[in-house]
Amino acid sequence: MAAPPAEAPARCDLVIRGGEVIDGTGAPRRRADLAVAGERVVAIGDLGRTAGAVEIDASGRAVAPGFIDVHTHDDRLLLSGPDMAPKVSQGVTTVIAGNCGISLAPLRLTRRPPPPLDLLGDERWWHFGDFGTYAEAIERAPAATNVAMLVGHSTLRVGTMDSLDRPARDGEVERMRALLAESLRQGAIGLSTGLFYPTARSAPTDEVVAIAGTLKALGGLYVTHMRDEADHVEESIDETLEIGRRAGVPVVISHHKTVGRRNFGRTRETLAKIERARARQAVGLDVYPYIASSSVISIERIRMGIPVLVSWSVPHPEAAGRDLDDVAAEWGCDRVEAAERLKPGGAIYFQLDEEDVRRVLSYPHAMIGSDGLPHDARPHPRLWGTFPRVLGHYARDLGLFGLEEAVRRMTGLPAACFGIADRGVVRAGAFADLVVFDPLTVIDRATFDEPVRPAAGIDAVVVNGRVVWRAGASTGDRPGRLLRRGSGAGPSPSSAR
Ligand code: ZN
Ligand code: CU
Repeated sequence: MAAPPAEAPARCDLVIRGGEVIDGTGAPRRRADLAVAGERVVAIGDLGRTAGAVEIDASGRAVAPGFIDVHTHDDRLLLSGPDMAPKVSQGVTTVIAGNCGISLAPLRLTRRPPPPLDLLGDERWWHFGDFGTYAEAIERAPAATNVAMLVGHSTLRVGTMDSLDRPARDGEVERMRALLAESLRQGAIGLSTGLFYPTARSAPTDEVVAIAGTLKALGGLYVTHMRDEADHVEESIDETLEIGRRAGVPVVISHHKTVGRRNFGRTRETLAKIERARARQAVGLDVYPYIASSSVISIERIRMGIPVLVSWSVPHPEAAGRDLDDVAAEWGCDRVEAAERLKPGGAIYFQLDEEDVRRVLSYPHAMIGSDGLPHDARPHPRLWGTFPRVLGHYARDLGLFGLEEAVRRMTGLPAACFGIADRGVVRAGAFADLVVFDPLTVIDRATFDEPVRPAAGIDAVVVNGRVVWRAGASTGDRPGRLLRRGSGAGPSPSSAR
């Protein structure tokens, strides 16, 4: 080990000793101790003369920046399940919420929201009429993880328009722009769309460009569940790139995939297209490590004839976890009829090709995002398994890329892409968001049959200098913050509240 660093203190709050530090930049691991004082890392090196109030023995373990889950629907989980166990159990210390056009704020409702907004819950949860109220709720009762929030285009549409099956009129676009601008000033980091979904499908490109135009002046990015991930996936990428260029903002393509048997293999073309575009504009993408997707019940998808599992159903909660065809057989109807009867509800769709999943994961600019759905009765296992599955299954066991590279795609890369300052990297001065894990045993244990199972091999997770997960359980501490763009540290001096 290297000599003690000049800044090594005699005592500090936490020392993580003897681990292999993987710093999040992709650089090779190196053996080092790590000292934390307050919320920051203060020294890295041989800290044999430093005593910590808390000491973690990390010998034989990797010490990495806490993972950033760039694609989540945790808007409500942060409030209703603030220990964030599905996330901290994987080593996740920051989540980006408000994806796929769905954000809990700004929107007040007195009736059940239309799908897919109901993924976040029924009308009882929709009471944040402005983003600032949501931000205050998070700051008043913090969760175990940090969060950065996008504002959902479908959320804006539901709050602004009397019918969603048409383009927004000029006055409605103006109101959505004003709501987005206010939200950005109150701490949101960008805009998300879900142009695939009925709540946003009728929005033409021009509507999205007009709203996204607000992002440039205030600083923010555009994140999208594209209009079509199946037969017209390349046109959808073109539309996304056009929106980014015309609005003058960086874009992120969510959960990149090509859907349906006849589109298997097309990630060769889509990744080549994205790579070409990167020479002209800022483009990011994320991916989850599974061949099944999950969302609300979509009759379109169910008609494709692929295997489908029911993940939740309001009228038939007993169907959760069952194969849709078994439910249909029991009811003596076809699967479309069964799906209609299960609504409102959610499903898991086995509609991706393993080779495509590996190809996207292997793309050097791909970030990792779980897309976990925390309120589903029988959730897709990605909710509990995404990060350990990339580390253990895809990096270690299949050798798609090295461990340092896997960590970079979960830490340094997303921090840079989303403008999260002083996180996603292990260095003196950065926030102490850290995970200690065993590279030899880390693995997901959540499966489609048993989806609610914590991963193996995650020893300790630290958020803002405080231990939130240890020895297979939450500690109960909740040191998370709302992260504003470029600040990383909660309210920045210039942020208007
Ligand atoms: Zn989505
Ligand atoms: Cu999503």
